[in-house]
Amino acid sequence: MCGIVGYVGHQQALPLVLDGLRRLEYRGYDSSGIAVLDGRGGMVVEKRAGRIENLDKALATDHPGGITGTTGIGHTRWATHGAPTDRNAHPHLDTAGAVAVIHNGIIENFAPLRAELEQAGVELRSETDTEVVAHLLAAALGAPSAAAPARGGADLATAMRAVCRRLHGAFTLVVAHRDHPDRIVAARRNSPLVVGVGAGETFVASDVAAFVEHTREAVELGQDQLVEITAAGYTVTDLDGEPVEAKPFTVTWDLAAAEKGGHPYFMLKEIEEQPAAVADTLLGRYVNGRIVLDEERLDAQELRDVDKVFVVACGTAYHSGLIAKYAIEHWTRVPVEVEMASEFRYRDPVLDRDTLVVAISQSGETADTLEAVRHARDQKARVLAICNTNGAQIPRESDAVLYTRAGPEIGVASTKTFLAQVAATHLVGLALAAAKGTKYGDEVGREFAALEAMPELIARVLGVVEPVRELARDIADAKAVLFLGRHLGYPVALEGALKLKELAYMHAEGFPAGELKHGPIALIEDRLPVVVVMASPRARPVLHAKLLSNIQEVRARGARTIVIAEEGDDTVRPYAHHLIRVPPTPTLLSPLVTTVPLQVLAAEIAQSRGYDVDKPRNLAKSVTVE
Ligand code: AGP
Repeated sequence: MCGIVGYVGHQQALPLVLDGLRRLEYRGYDSSGIAVLDGRGGMVVEKRAGRIENLDKALATDHPGGITGTTGIGHTRWATHGAPTDRNAHPHLDTAGAVAVIHNGIIENFAPLRAELEQAGVELRSETDTEVVAHLLAAALGAPSAAAPARGGADLATAMRAVCRRLHGAFTLVVAHRDHPDRIVAARRNSPLVVGVGAGETFVASDVAAFVEHTREAVELGQDQLVEITAAGYTVTDLDGEPVEAKPFTVTWDLAAAEKGGHPYFMLKEIEEQPAAVADTLLGRYVNGRIVLDEERLDAQELRDVDKVFVVACGTAYHSGLIAKYAIEHWTRVPVEVEMASEFRYRDPVLDRDTLVVAISQSGETADTLEAVRHARDQKARVLAICNTNGAQIPRESDAVLYTRAGPEIGVASTKTFLAQVAATHLVGLALAAAKGTKYGDEVGREFAALEAMPELIARVLGVVEPVRELARDIADAKAVLFLGRHLGYPVALEGALKLKELAYMHAEGFPAGELKHGPIALIEDRLPVVVVMASPRARPVLHAKLLSNIQEVRARGARTIVIAEEGDDTVRPYAHHLIRVPPTPTLLSPLVTTVPLQVLAAEIAQSRGYDVDKPRNLAKSVTVE
């Protein structure tokens, strides 16, 4: 949560920083702020609660002549400590107004640090955990010692290292100092930070999206590392000041991938990109009878020995895990438990070195999932990460990695990364089945071919979603919507409900249809929309028949039935007020088509209700706090 950007170079910093912030606004959007160094000992700071437009307005009013300076930092906030107000917005300053600090994460020991500062007579002006860093840094810089003899560039880095060593928790911190206008210092622990290396200019940011317009050459920072950037380049050390060799990489996508491409919202573009996201995730994965992952620090014997699988993830990624269970158990006969990452480590799950923990996260930085990974590794389990962000913390701490290649997903609601995750979990199931010998190479090949056929079928669904948009406008004023499914239709129902909650702020629940009569049926009232994800009448006739009964049960009680059913399934027609068609698919792959109309439904209802589809209230794209 929180987006961070810093720039030192030959161009004016302010427009670059503001552009970067706009690209990072998906990470948090309840306030924003900037600091620009003018190079003559001056520093301009402006910050405002609300969206970046509020900051733009404040800058135009307070600085009509613009702000000059080639070094600047900026922050867009998702509040943790203190309400989203002007005062709590970042940057935070020390008492003299010399040091400006922006922060992503939570400083867990901020209370004793704050007490220590207050005892020393420092007056803190915000309720944030971040402000302590500005004062601690000022103290470290001001205290003459062997470690900080003079106010040179190295002092700032040395002081910053000393402060970081005192901090507990998660942080990306970026610091500018008005007496050191040629540099910015940044450090990270458990929160992301990348460096962008241009010609005569250097960036730091939480995500490459902030600078990809200017350079695709990037460097990822490791845990507990500090970087000092100047226009000429960067220096990375650990928190003791030892030089560290950082890992450079080239960003493989360009600015166009991170822009809306004619769509009013990123999410709508990302829904359209789903066939490509799945196709790219599958590209080159089946070679000579085996499934190829991106990073394999597990040998064949270790995979063969796996006797239990846990899938850990949050939100939509968790739903992809629920779907994965069906395929992995079916192909490998290894039991699979799917658990919300936030619950996993607190209940002492039974893990050992023959347990494979599959951690699914589009961002790769979700704190709950990261901590679940760490717990699993402490217990000697093997961890395989499925992630959409190269080099993020979760893949870095895992034994094997399979990257979904969905490209940048800006809309807060996951869509294309979800479908890519489903495809990726199938690859993991096939890799495991091949290693354990529960499937021969040619059988793996056949399953892979079925997966490869899916992008075309997803595109077919996207081609016929217009009636879903009309339906959405029709039910946009409903108070609640229920989603029902059986077997693989159940996680799809959960995902449909989550999308509607987060985007349209409507009460929405997903249930296994068989549970209906055990309680939820009491919720049915006149005209309540109930979405039913049907099973295939060919492949699952028994489930199909039971779902038909469930539809009749809710319809008899006044519900408006919206049914997602296979093309050609006419038995359902008399019971559906609205029928949404999807092409026939193999059962295990059906979520790849049945989820799509539900994404469109939620986005369209949110638009009809006048909400911001990309930035739903109270949410952020990546949740880096527990
Ligand atoms: C999905 O629409 C949500 N915004 C959210 O549930 C998300 O899937 C969850 O927070 C996990 O994020 P991750 O995939 O980055 O770990």
